[in-house]
Amino acid sequence: MLIGVLGGGQLGRMLALAGYPFGLRFRVLDPVLDAATDGIAERVRGAYEDPAALDAFAAGLDCVTYEFENVPVATVRALAARGVRVFPGERALALTQDRVLEKQFLSELGVATADFAPIDAADDVARAVASVALPAVLKSRRLGYDGRGQRVVRTAADLDGAWDALGGVPLVAEAFVPFKRELALLAARAVDGTIACYPLIETHHRDGILRLALAPAPHASAELQSAAEAIATRVLQALDYVGVLAVELFERDGRLLVNELAPRVHNSGHGTIEGAETSQFAQHLRAGLGLPLGSTSAVGYSAMLNLIGEAPPLDALLRADPHAHVHRYGKQPRPARKLGHVTLIASDRAALAARVEAFAAAIGIALPT
Ligand SMILES: Nc1ncnc2c1ncn2[C@@H]1O[C@H](COP(=O)(O)OP(=O)(O)O)[C@@H](O)[C@H]1O
Ligand SMILES: [Mg+2]
Repeated sequence: MLIGVLGGGQLGRMLALAGYPFGLRFRVLDPVLDAATDGIAERVRGAYEDPAALDAFAAGLDCVTYEFENVPVATVRALAARGVRVFPGERALALTQDRVLEKQFLSELGVATADFAPIDAADDVARAVASVALPAVLKSRRLGYDGRGQRVVRTAADLDGAWDALGGVPLVAEAFVPFKRELALLAARAVDGTIACYPLIETHHRDGILRLALAPAPHASAELQSAAEAIATRVLQALDYVGVLAVELFERDGRLLVNELAPRVHNSGHGTIEGAETSQFAQHLRAGLGLPLGSTSAVGYSAMLNLIGEAPPLDALLRADPHAHVHRYGKQPRPARKLGHVTLIASDRAALAARVEAFAAAIGIALPT
């Protein structure tokens, strides 16, 4: 089978790597000069809305998925018109591209989020922020990632110039959530409607970028896990969703609020490659291809550390811990860029904490506090 992937970043690369043991083959569509999938999957280099590129990409594909949610919805339609099924579907893509539509959808489902208000023009900023109250977070409605296009506003003075600083684009104002911690739930829904959820993952961000993910999340009660699964199930069913969905959550006073949804495999789940019986990448393919879902059980306790901006050389990473699982994406270093990740596994939490600390010290990266 030949699977098409829209986007040639590290998520596409790890999808292909997970599919090869099943005998699957991959073709990627991405306009960039160098893609992280180059060398491991064939590529059509072209724009997502270029009909000729779409013709070349679609020819002979069994189905298509995407590895980032800013693929134009028109691309999914154009592929459908060429007889190619795309999973997850168009509605999931359209909703998760726009933070306001996404939060409205969640509210209609009865899923809790931070209070929010749309901002369409500079004149709306003060009113929207007043309606959610300070402190608040202003975020671009579309195209934000890794904390880009966001600004925390704590006082009325912080509102001055915020509209221009964020590029004069439509925004959403969100109440700032004084969360106890951040969590992520990865869930998969297969073509036949079967759902499988992974254990909750505890995520640690700095400057809006994920640094560390611990799975299964420490101190997560069965009730907390069920509450997260209930949220994911509602979303998956409402969207008739197929594939892996990531739900980013805030835990506050024992309650869960949804921060955002990602209609794809997700950085918080990279640890599932070695830290779960089925990796999120294999699960996404199983779900989309009408195959049985795999076990989501954890294999020990895992910690996933992102390598951001600069990465130590391979031999230094491997020397730091012979148990480390090292992943490098083949991308050029650039500030704030995700260049790779390392997963460490141990049989208990104390051993994992010691391993993470020693590894971080050996390669000189700061752990989130
Ligand atoms: N309303 C909020 N209250 C508190 N912290 C927030 C809020 N929204 C975002 N953050 C922080 O910023 C990070 C990135 O924001 P997010 O909305 O997930 O954007 P991105 O699409 O860049 O991941 C979150 O993981 C969280 O740490
Ligand atoms: Mg996020």
